Amino acid sequence: MSGVEVTAVSKRYGAATVLDRITASFEAGRFTSLLGPSGSGKTTLLRIVAGFVIPDEGELRIGAAEVTRVPVWKRRIGMVFQSYALFPHMTVLENVMFGLNRRGVRGPSAAKEAREALEMVRLTGFEARSPKQLSGGQQQRVALARAIVTKPEVLLLDEPLSALDRRLRQEMQVELKRIQRESGLTTIFVTHDQEEALTLSDRIAILDRGRIVQDGVPGEIYERPRTRFAAGFLGDANFLEGTVTASGVEVAGALVRVAGKLPAAGSKVTLAVRPEKMTILAPNTASSFENALPATLREVIYAGAVSTYLLTGADGRELKVFAQNRAQDGAGFQPGASVTLGWSAAHTIPMED
Ligand SMILES: Nc1ncnc2c1ncn2[C@@H]1O[C@H](COP(=O)(O)OP(=O)(O)O)[C@@H](O)[C@H]1O
Ligand SMILES: [Mg+2]
Repeated sequence: MSGVEVTAVSKRYGAATVLDRITASFEAGRFTSLLGPSGSGKTTLLRIVAGFVIPDEGELRIGAAEVTRVPVWKRRIGMVFQSYALFPHMTVLENVMFGLNRRGVRGPSAAKEAREALEMVRLTGFEARSPKQLSGGQQQRVALARAIVTKPEVLLLDEPLSALDRRLRQEMQVELKRIQRESGLTTIFVTHDQEEALTLSDRIAILDRGRIVQDGVPGEIYERPRTRFAAGFLGDANFLEGTVTASGVEVAGALVRVAGKLPAAGSKVTLAVRPEKMTILAPNTASSFENALPATLREVIYAGAVSTYLLTGADGRELKVFAQNRAQDGAGFQPGASVTLGWSAAHTIPMED
């Protein structure tokens, strides 16, 4: 089992720096997501790991070997793209055997290995079909079988589920996770979908304009985002700007307490608070929360299990609260109501930028 180590990798196209000194490690046997918006460099980084793109600077290791300039065909990589790229004139079994044939595995042993890969993606019985007799989800499973049949050191997945509709995508997420767990393959999964990254990954690396701005386990990135970009891209956040004082941060005339470390008194700082960490209270209610801010409720968006409350702070800032629709919680508040938002110091996260 091999991990992937990327060290100070840069890639430029003309004047544009697409990857800017990326250092990241993708642990052996783990499922790591590269999460970032379109154009942030995710595919380029994946193509560097695969060997389709050679970086201008930096080093790439797969396992113990330095492979920065090793050609694609000498790397043991399995890859699945957004478009399945199956051969339409070949059967399912022939599609899966194709990669093996190219590596010199032929005849009955190739067929046996291909059948095992199809079993892994739960497509036993579909061997003789042609790709056009399959649903989108099934085609993507064939593509996955084709990628894992060669027993690669690393599995690279570039937004493989984005062409599927919502239900199929959720089904395939569960399947992907199972296949990765059962095969134990080191997997790098590229996505722009935060929910997908959160539910699937052992680790997440967030990419912003060619730089990794944060990486860690999903819960850590969600609970302790370091930058406004990370806080806003993975989940929702309320941002409060203020000035550091001796006992906390002054935000629009109110003192906000922070559990973590703050910059020196007098500095400007932005605090992030996740919308589900705030509670809507009647104005001036005594509560156990360390922090309270007055706000006006503008709108309630009811979505069955949860509601989203849109509010305006005393200084005009827009705020958002998520609450589960338990009992009659929140039901007493109508748009236009004056309320107090309560939350704890531990859920108040100073941003580094
Ligand atoms: N072969 C190329 N030539 C020129 N520019 C490229 C090339 N490949 C990618 N880019 C540019 O690099 C940036 C990052 O692209 P990409 O890695 O595909 O991002 P992502 O997968 O995150 O959407 C984009 O601005 C894209 O236009
Ligand atoms: Mg891409």
